[in-house]
Amino acid sequence: MAPPDGLSAETRAAYERGRLIFNGHFRPSGTEGPDDLVGLGPLYNRISCASCHSAGGRGAPPNGPDENFLTALVRVGVVDSAGVATPHPIFGNQIQDRAVPGIDPEAKVSLYWETVTGTYPDGQSYELRKPFLEIDPDPGPSARWSIRIAQSIRGVGLLEAAVTPKDGDGRFGWKAVEPSVVMQNASALSQDMGITSVFHEAPICPNGETVCGGGGREIPGTALADLTLFAKLLPPLAGEDAPNAMGAFLFYRTGCAACHIPELPSYYSAGTVKSYSDLALHDMGPGLDDGLPEGDAKSFEWRTPPLWGLGMVLKYNPAAPLLHDGRARGAEEAILWHDGEARYSKHAFMELPKEDRVRLLAFLMGL
Ligand code: HEC
Ligand code: HEC
Repeated sequence: MAPPDGLSAETRAAYERGRLIFNGHFRPSGTEGPDDLVGLGPLYNRISCASCHSAGGRGAPPNGPDENFLTALVRVGVVDSAGVATPHPIFGNQIQDRAVPGIDPEAKVSLYWETVTGTYPDGQSYELRKPFLEIDPDPGPSARWSIRIAQSIRGVGLLEAAVTPKDGDGRFGWKAVEPSVVMQNASALSQDMGITSVFHEAPICPNGETVCGGGGREIPGTALADLTLFAKLLPPLAGEDAPNAMGAFLFYRTGCAACHIPELPSYYSAGTVKSYSDLALHDMGPGLDDGLPEGDAKSFEWRTPPLWGLGMVLKYNPAAPLLHDGRARGAEEAILWHDGEARYSKHAFMELPKEDRVRLLAFLMGL
């Protein structure tokens, strides 16, 4: 996570301060330490940004009920008969599965995988997995949950500057709820770490109590600004130099590029944002519908994730967990879950001869 070249001495210093906050371990209010990273909890998911976004990268779901959520989390809500979501009376908007000493975590969450099978038109069979959660204490029959793996934060500054075809209010998160990197970071500090800021002054309290922990602005505005500058300057991982022309052709022909738009203009520079995304929400069909709407996004809508840097992720682990909950083990399974607005594209992929499917997947390995 070295600073990019060409920064002024002042910007570089702010980047270094932001990087220290991103990697730093926060401690509960009222405890002593060598730095000013205080304000953790009382409820939280992890003690640092980097514990979910290792080296700025993406997370993974637990492999089974015996593993903790380490780089993923669970959003919750109560959905009424009209489909309107409100915060859960006990858990709020997110289950914080950890707490400072003397306070109980909100719940224990255990993830199970169910197997789903299918067949390509050419007869080749495949196996997918779908997550199922057990939450203790039981959140009740009208509760809905949504598992989210940490997204890569690399390139978020460029995503913020991209001119998108559909200009909605939100842009960040798997459901494009947060409008800017600073708001996304402030929300992460609040929901994931229990740290209040100028944007979220009320602490997250256990069981709906109203007084707990330190309210106000546990992280000063200047520190939030440094953290945000760091996040915005962290570049995306670079893909391969020599593009796979046949794979790229198939990417267009099967309609992937309609949503995964290779490049978007930028508000701030003459360059383009080569993220392979329109940053817009799309109906992805019932298979990816977890029943929990959020912001303007319906329960079956997800933001097209940028595909830049995917090659590096897949080279390191060809079965890397993809999609919002990490259910897909690698790119092929991710494509097979596409449905709704993406169903024609998915079917076009499935109908390709095997060697062309391999070429298209090889193209993704180069991004
Ligand atoms: C408990 C794990 C966890 C921790 C801790 C965490 N994040 Fe995240 N991060 C996530 C998840 C999950 C998402 C996707 C959220 C969603 O869908 O709404 C995300 C999304 C983001 C995004 C949006 C990326 C995009 O492309 O839209 C940014 C930026 C980000 N986090 C920054 C941070 C910062 C800064 C911190 C520390 C203050 C932090 N995160 C702490 C799990 C975590
Ligand atoms: C209608 C828009 C649309 C089309 C067309 C589309 N996608 Fe997607 N794609 C999405 C959305 C939205 C997601 C995120 C779904 C989720 O997280 O549950 C996604 C997720 C992915 C992912 C996982 C990325 C990650 O970071 O987890 C890959 C890989 C992918 N798409 C590749 C493709 C390929 C290849 C094609 C063409 C065969 C394609 N997509 C067609 C919208 C689309």
